[in-house]
Amino acid sequence: MTIAADVQRHMQDSSWIRRMFELGIQLKQERGEANVFDLSLGNPVVEPPAQFFDELRRFADHHAPGAHRYMPNNGYPDTRQAVADALSAETGLPYGPQHIVMTVGAAAALNIIIHALCDPGDEAIILAPYFGEYLFYALEHRAQPVVIPCDQNFTPDLEELERKLSPRTRLLILNSPNNPSGAMYSQSTIDAIAELLERKSAEFNTDIFLVSDEPYRKILFDNLQYPFPQQRYQRTITVTSHAKDLGLPGDRIGYLALHPHYEAGPALLDALVFCNRVLGFVNAPAIMQHLVRNLQNVTIDIADYQTKRDYLYNTLTDAGYNVRKPEGAFYMFPQSPVPDELQLVEALQRHGVLVVPGRGFGMPGHFRISYCVHQHDLEGAAPGFQAALQELTQ
Ligand SMILES: Cc1ncc(COP(=O)(O)O)c(C=O)c1O
Repeated sequence: MTIAADVQRHMQDSSWIRRMFELGIQLKQERGEANVFDLSLGNPVVEPPAQFFDELRRFADHHAPGAHRYMPNNGYPDTRQAVADALSAETGLPYGPQHIVMTVGAAAALNIIIHALCDPGDEAIILAPYFGEYLFYALEHRAQPVVIPCDQNFTPDLEELERKLSPRTRLLILNSPNNPSGAMYSQSTIDAIAELLERKSAEFNTDIFLVSDEPYRKILFDNLQYPFPQQRYQRTITVTSHAKDLGLPGDRIGYLALHPHYEAGPALLDALVFCNRVLGFVNAPAIMQHLVRNLQNVTIDIADYQTKRDYLYNTLTDAGYNVRKPEGAFYMFPQSPVPDELQLVEALQRHGVLVVPGRGFGMPGHFRISYCVHQHDLEGAAPGFQAALQELTQ
């Protein structure tokens, strides 16, 4: 069997989370399920809200004929209208159904956008720490990922960003609240990025797009308001999904939204819809489009995640870890107490706790904990966090 060399290389480089997943299965077999605390995956244990099941029942009992046929590749007009109305209410911008493409999750939206915007060798800016798949989405479409580091506070190095923006830069992916750090970029960071992209687009006579990947935007704590990059920058393409805010990762439903004031919107939209089709997604799942139409203002229980964030944050800081308190999502990204975070990850494994090394997210020296798990798993992991730190720092 011949596998493309690029794909082989990318598979090898992308294996951190998968390795943890496989190790988890092995450890559970060896030690028993109850003694392994798998905090490595962003696969929420929460069930979707009751309204989702109400919609599902209503759909099964009352759906109109033709509800499972092909449809326009951007999705049902009434679903796009509902999405546009909700996004307009959130952002204060006049989104309409013509700005929306329903997609097979946020992952499909990102792939469609990169494919539509990038010729081979064009550049996609990614801020580290990043969702590891971004690199491979870019590479699989023959775009060049350009990584910009953030400081310990997860604020991007804007001078480095300015240096790295080039006539070949087609897009910058901004993910807030962030996977893996849980950090939400501040309004001033967003203003500064928008100003820079505006200035450089004018200088190079190009359109540099800000792809705002927001699957966690509704999972925000402490009553924080979400600073929308769309309010600041007209070449923003919103990407999101209901994987996390409705707890539906397996059902593959999300959307992208073009900024209503972007002047070349109709042409770009045609290109995005074309890419949705020829990359083989064709359209987002019909049933899910029927269901999420009436769920745009529903979310899972954010208070539960906030309680877990507080529990984990207190556990880690009491034990002596250095960690920035997340503002949203359901991840924490503490500093490793030793420079090589693999040593810590292995020490945690010995105590039955699975986390992912920071190098999988472009920021070695840290590790990612997912707390979208049951509270008893967080409590079960707590002694392991203490013991591993003691072991390495004695
Ligand atoms: C930052 C980020 N973007 C995109 C995705 C993909 O989301 P989806 O399952 O909706 O494709 C994820 C999934 O974990 C994510 O964390």
